[in-house]
Amino acid sequence: MSVVHVDQVTKRFGRLTALQEIDLSIEEGEFISLIGPSGCGKSTLLRVMGDLTDTTEGKVIVNGKPARQARIDRDYGIVFQDATLYDWRTVSKNISLPLELARWDRKRRAARVQEMLELVELDGFQDNYPWQLSGGMQQRVSIARALSFDPALLLMDEPFGALDEMTRERLNMELLRIWEHSGSTVVFVTHSIAEAVFLSTRVVVMSPRPGRISSVVQIDLPQPRTAATREEPRFFELVTEVREALHLGADEPGRERTEATA
Ligand SMILES: Nc1ncnc2c1ncn2[C@@H]1O[C@H](COP(=O)(O)OP(=O)(O)O)[C@@H](O)[C@H]1O
Ligand SMILES: [Mg+2]
Repeated sequence: MSVVHVDQVTKRFGRLTALQEIDLSIEEGEFISLIGPSGCGKSTLLRVMGDLTDTTEGKVIVNGKPARQARIDRDYGIVFQDATLYDWRTVSKNISLPLELARWDRKRRAARVQEMLELVELDGFQDNYPWQLSGGMQQRVSIARALSFDPALLLMDEPFGALDEMTRERLNMELLRIWEHSGSTVVFVTHSIAEAVFLSTRVVVMSPRPGRISSVVQIDLPQPRTAATREEPRFFELVTEVREALHLGADEPGRERTEATA
């Protein structure tokens, strides 16, 4: 059974077609990246999967049920570009928030928070406030919070977009380690080709006006990925393949006509 099944999804904002007839199935344990130029509908597709916005046409099935029900059942963890932490709550209080909402008792919450702190290597920072942490550390708190209730599906929208290259590469490694340990399925939005290839089992390339999936590239690099992965010839081949797919999507004839008649 697929964890996510996007079936003929179209999303319009007024006269703008942000997504047109999207079909995508994601299997358990996959790490999927969505890549494409700005405005091609990556965030909208992620939001549709997470039931943060509804579809105009078509449907989204998550864990065998409508996305709405999956959200009610807390099947998702969501991480955005900005850490969106609560400044008046400490690190541990931020991580435990979803657990409080899910009415976990204090003891169980404390144990889980400790486990999460270790997972994202922030043990020792539990009593700090978000503003006392670096951007990379804040983003790790967001990831810990999103993973705290062990969601089947982790949705991430350019989570490392605002970070410097070094921090980003380190967090990529950390995310992969977490993904391997948690066994969850990840959908990750990025506009970095190298990041998408490095992290993913499949890269979904999107093209704009209207937002469509123009191709899907299978990333057959061995697991686990390491620092050396970025230096393998196959890595560069795949980066080239994704780059060419992006350009093909952008140059496809008929796009301008579609736009003009929209
Ligand atoms: N809430 C909204 N209202 C109106 N238009 C929107 C809204 N959200 C996104 N759009 C439009 O839909 C298109 C796709 O947006 P988005 O999914 O954010 O693209 P991406 O994440 O790939 O940059 C863009 O043209 C954007 O302006
Ligand atoms: Mg976006």
